[in-house]
Amino acid sequence: MTKKRVLSGMQSSGKLHLGNYLGALENWVTMQEAYDCYYFVADWHALSSNYEETDGLKDNIVDLGVNWLSAGIDPEKSVMFIQSLVPQHAVLFLLLGMITPIPWLERVPSYKEKLENVTDRDMHTHGFLGYPVLQAADIVLYKADVVPVGIDQLPHLELTREIVRHFHNIYKTKVFVEPDAKMAEVKKLPGLDGRKMSKSYGNAIFLSDTPDERDKKTSLIVTDPARVRKTDKGDPEKCVAYAFHKVFNNAGRNAEIANDCRNANIGCVACKKELAKNIAEYMAPFDERRAKWAGRKNEVMDILRAGSDKARVVAAQTLAEAEAAMKIDLQKI
Ligand code: TRP
Ligand code: SF4
Repeated sequence: MTKKRVLSGMQSSGKLHLGNYLGALENWVTMQEAYDCYYFVADWHALSSNYEETDGLKDNIVDLGVNWLSAGIDPEKSVMFIQSLVPQHAVLFLLLGMITPIPWLERVPSYKEKLENVTDRDMHTHGFLGYPVLQAADIVLYKADVVPVGIDQLPHLELTREIVRHFHNIYKTKVFVEPDAKMAEVKKLPGLDGRKMSKSYGNAIFLSDTPDERDKKTSLIVTDPARVRKTDKGDPEKCVAYAFHKVFNNAGRNAEIANDCRNANIGCVACKKELAKNIAEYMAPFDERRAKWAGRKNEVMDILRAGSDKARVVAAQTLAEAEAAMKIDLQKI
């Protein structure tokens, strides 16, 4: 039996944090065993919402590679590649763009949301409106069966399925596969202040933070605000550190902590020290691998280039099929 194909991508638009690790990367690593996996750096997508500040883009690409390898993505098992090294993504984006009605794109929630809320950058571009078409091209070029994504990406997956059906209707040939979204069973990690963990909120623990920096940030996690003195009884459900404990600790010990917190038998400083120790233990294999990969950027790029060579073969085949279905292939006239 052939394995089902998985494809997913991450934008190279900044540093990854612990929430990305637990929410996406860990899941990618697990999927390597049962699926034929393609993971790529969406570097063109990174331009779609920020075309002016391109200074760090190249470094971000390598950083993603470093973090993926440190997390345990294995280039022997999975194809790791870079979108812009596979130009077929751009060609299929163009072709799919020809058939995609503009109202379908204007309806996408992330489009509406960013147009309203992002004020420091220009979002009124063709590239940003067309972002989900590029994403659809990314997916269908590999005939991916399954696309692991977060909840915010579900509308993009639905749009991909609609574009696939539309294409098949128009050209009367089945070329692509309608992908299924697969939501990871995500361990929910908030930011240090209890809001969503995000680079832009300044409340994130980054994968590039050293163990010391991570400990320091852990000590700053917001606790039950009603617990001013150590003798005050606390409510763990109102404490961000306790939400972290739920992710990094075993249930039995968490019940004890909750009890000690409610009865003021444990202080917040000690409680968060224990948390820092648990995070360090959890991340030890990652840290070990990262120490190795962080200094080997050339090798990381070689892995991504070799993966892009493999991806290009698959992408070229699908693109040829799409062009044939559209009767625009010029191989034989
Ligand atoms: N849009 C995705 C995100 O921001 C990244 C992405 C681009 C992607 N192309 C993709 C994810 C294809 C899955 C499949 O997270
Ligand atoms: Fe949070 Fe622990 Fe302090 Fe209770 S004791 S408020 S769980 S940090």
